[in-house]
Parts: sequence; C-alpha cells; structure tokens
Amino acid sequence: MNQNRDSFTSKFGVIAAAAGSAIGLGNIWRFPYVLGENGGAAFLLLYLFFILAIGMPVMLSELMIGRKAQMNIFGAFRKLSPGSIWPLVGIMGVGAAFMILSFYAVVAGWTLDYAFLAFKNEFAGKSPDEISAIFNDISGSVWKSILLMLAFMGLSAWIVRSGIKDGIEKYTKILMPMLLVIIILLNVRALTLDGASAGLKFLFTPDFSKINANVILEALGQAFFSLSLGMGVMATYGSYIKKGESLGQTAISVSLADTFIAVLAGVAIFPAVFAFGIQPNAGPGLVFVTLPGIFNQMPGGYFFAILFFILLIIAALTSSISLLEVVVAYFSEELKMKRAFATWLAAGIMSALGVLCATYDRLFTFFEKTSSNVLLPLGGLLIVIFVGWFLGLKNVRDELEADGKVARYFLPFVFVIKFLAPIAIAIVFLYSLELLRF
Ligand code: TRP
Repeated sequence: MNQNRDSFTSKFGVIAAAAGSAIGLGNIWRFPYVLGENGGAAFLLLYLFFILAIGMPVMLSELMIGRKAQMNIFGAFRKLSPGSIWPLVGIMGVGAAFMILSFYAVVAGWTLDYAFLAFKNEFAGKSPDEISAIFNDISGSVWKSILLMLAFMGLSAWIVRSGIKDGIEKYTKILMPMLLVIIILLNVRALTLDGASAGLKFLFTPDFSKINANVILEALGQAFFSLSLGMGVMATYGSYIKKGESLGQTAISVSLADTFIAVLAGVAIFPAVFAFGIQPNAGPGLVFVTLPGIFNQMPGGYFFAILFFILLIIAALTSSISLLEVVVAYFSEELKMKRAFATWLAAGIMSALGVLCATYDRLFTFFEKTSSNVLLPLGGLLIVIFVGWFLGLKNVRDELEADGKVARYFLPFVFVIKFLAPIAIAIVFLYSLELLRF
C-alpha cells in the first residue's frame, strides 16, 4: 500500500464524501425534471428498481476496484489487469467527467444566481409566471450563464487543489445533514398546499402505459447519474478508503441516502408543481420555477430560501469536486503533472466546454443525454463485467471481507455482477436502440 497516498480519516468521512458526490443537482434538479418528462410514478418504480438491481452492485464494484488498486481509475485497471485494454474504460470515464462537469457547472451557476436573488428577496410575491421569467432571463442570457459557470468552476478547482483531507472531507461532513433538514421543511410546506394531492398522485400512482424504451433508458441513466456511477468517481474515492472499512456498508448507505434525498425532492416539488399550475414536463427549468414559489408561501421563507440555495450550491460543489478529482487523479498520477497544475488544467478545459454548453442548448442537451444515458451505463456494464469475470473471485471476497467480517452477501453479489446487472444493462441498451422488440 502506498503510504503517501492521501486517505479519508474516518468512516463517517468516507460515507459523507461518497454521499456528497452522489447527492447534488442530480437529485434536486435532474431527478424531478426527468421524472416529470417521463410520466411520473412509473418512472419512479423503474428508477428504484435500477438503483437496487444495478446501481448498488455497480457502486460496490467500483469502490472495490479503487481500493484494491489504490490508484486513479486508469491506473487501477492497468494495475489489476496488466497488458489488457481495460484501462480504456478509465479513459472513457475521464472523458465522461469532462462532458458532465461542463454542463453541470452551468446549472450550478444558475443556482449561484438563485442564492443572490433569494438574498435580495427578488422572488417575494412573484407569481409562477414571473418566477419563470426570472429563470428564462438567467438561462437565456449567455454571458450571465458563462460568468456564473466560471465562478462555480473556480470554486470547485480551489477545493480540489487542496487535496482530500483538508478539502473534500472537511466540507461535506457538516453540510449534507443540513441540506436534508431544509428539504424536510420544504416537504411539510409542499404537502400542505391546496391541491398537493394531484402531485402525490403523479409521483406515486403508476400509469404503466407511460413506459416505453425511452422512459426505461432515462430511468437507468438517471440512476447512474444520481449515484455518480460508471466513470470512476466511486473507484477514485474507493482508493482513498482504508482497508478496515466495509465497502458493502458504504455502498448501501450511500445509495440509500441518495435515493432518499431524490424522493424527498420529488415530494417537495410535485405537489407544488400541481398546486401552482406548472407543467410537470417543463424540462430543466422545473425546479427553478417551482421552488421559489414554495418558499414564498412558507413562514420564514426568505431565510430558508437563502439557506437552501447556499446548501444546494454546496451539494453541487461536493459533486463537482468528485468529477474533477477523477481527472486530477489521472493527470497527476498517470501524466505526472503537479496536483495544482492538473487541477487548473482540467478546470480550464472544462470551463471552455462549459462556455459552449452555456451558449448552445443543443450541446448542453447532447452532453447531458450522452453522458447519463450512454457513457455511464456503458462504463457500469464494463465495470461489473470486469469485477465479475476478470478480477478473480478470491480478490473480490478479500476486498469484501477486508473489515474482518464474513460477507454473507458474497454469493448474491457475485450472481448479480456476473449475470443480472450486465444482462439488464445490455437489454436496456438493445431495447432502446430498437434492436430488440418485445
Ligand atoms: N451524482 C451527482 C449528482 O447527483 C453528479 C455527479 C457527481 C456525477 N459525480 C458524478 C454523475 C459522476 C455521474 C458520474 O448531482
């Protein structure tokens, strides 16, 4: 084991950092809007199924690769399978990180502006239409979106540059629990709005006729996106986890926490969407139009709104730093760059791509869809195949039991990563390519 390698100092630190990566705009911005576009409750069921049957096993596999190899995602494959083409999966992950962070930072930039607007009390007394005009003004103004995106990218790079112990871990442990508290308050207010029940029905009463190949693919893509899977984030974080920690427990806690927050975000948003007469399929602006309306109708809404948007920025930061970290670990360990240089270089390239995403909606959508619905599930497919078929079951067992306890879930886990998860992902892919007709 490499003694100089940075590592997380506590068990809670590990879970908080991995959960910090998973919980972000994916839960609060992307989950509600994608669910709204894809028919509501039926999408939710598919999503939950994919989290359980595919997401958790992929997460465990990824953590395992990282901790076993103690390296960045590219180096990990090279070390665990020398002379093979597996490291290409790592390259694909690094590429996906560039794509994701460039559109993610644009959305995070809007969130920054929302924190300022909340502070200036700009939303007070505004109707849903007026709030929607505010959102269109920000997202439609290219230079505003670009400046905000750059500010966010700069913040992320500044945190990543300082390394794991002093950077990532310190910030995540305290702030994630606070976010949860505000979301619960939002739930209470949303559920007591007039007309809330239509939103709950949309979210929880499935209409199976809404399911089609695209809905299935979107649910799978969202599961990967939300759990930060398929491109090496969890492997990179796994490489900072000490041998005494249980990877299984980490994977379960992180997946459950992430799913819980996504569902709570849904429960906060959809009752309000219906109560305010907003269209559930309004697209990427959905939460930005809905949330200020809920705060407007809440006692203390002014303060909660400020606090919420600040915490959302932080949730986005703990996710963006994990994306940046994949690239920085690769640049510094494989290409031998200094950490600070690697950080600024990665952030610089991502900012350039971010400028393009802020300028061209179609590129934004292309990056968003291609990364979540294609690259991440493909990465996840290759990762479970690697762990199930190439890593060696003895190695798998050793990693699972590195905390000194017998892993009773060993056999089911092996069955899932060898067969169930790869077949399920492959079927979704083929089905969505319309190669397979049921
Ligand atoms: N999961 C994060 C969110 O929900 C975003 C994210 C961070 C991510 N790292 C990732 C998505 C890696 C995919 C892959 O906001």
